[in-house]
Amino acid sequence: MRDLEIITSAKVMAYEELDAPVRELVDAARAATAGSYAPYSHFKVGAAIRLSNGSIVTGANQENVAYPSGTCAERSACYWAGANAPEETFEMIAVAAVGTDGLPCATPAAPCGACRQALLEYEMRAGHDVPVILAGALEIYCLPSVKSLLPFAFTEF
Ligand code: THU
Repeated sequence: MRDLEIITSAKVMAYEELDAPVRELVDAARAATAGSYAPYSHFKVGAAIRLSNGSIVTGANQENVAYPSGTCAERSACYWAGANAPEETFEMIAVAAVGTDGLPCATPAAPCGACRQALLEYEMRAGHDVPVILAGALEIYCLPSVKSLLPFAFTEF
């Protein structure tokens, strides 16, 4: 018998403490919430990804009356990037959300399990850690990598 322990942690930062390129990505994720189509949950999520060429791509959750047909902001962003910039790798990801009250969520919204799995594959394709910035209105969680969000991930078969 042996113990296998995976410890995960985040740095909790204020917006003003972020480096300018990280602030820019957070701004892009916040702006991307405007592209959310969320008539069912009224929860608007935006995601922004910095690519290896320095550009930023964004996504927002897109819901559907057949609920499972909708997709999250993170997957709309990463699949757009994969489809339109297949040669680029991911450098950093930011996520922001606007709650059902129409106000930016104070506490950071974290990607769902399916998005963690999807993003992980882009991190593996990048060949290096891809930091994830979860941007609440009051505080911002800075995680070192996608894999830190998904311990014991499924990565091969
Ligand atoms: N959602 C995202 O887009 N990303 C997340 O990180 C969590 C949840 C969306 C899915 C759905 O449109 C709405 O938020 C409520 O779950």
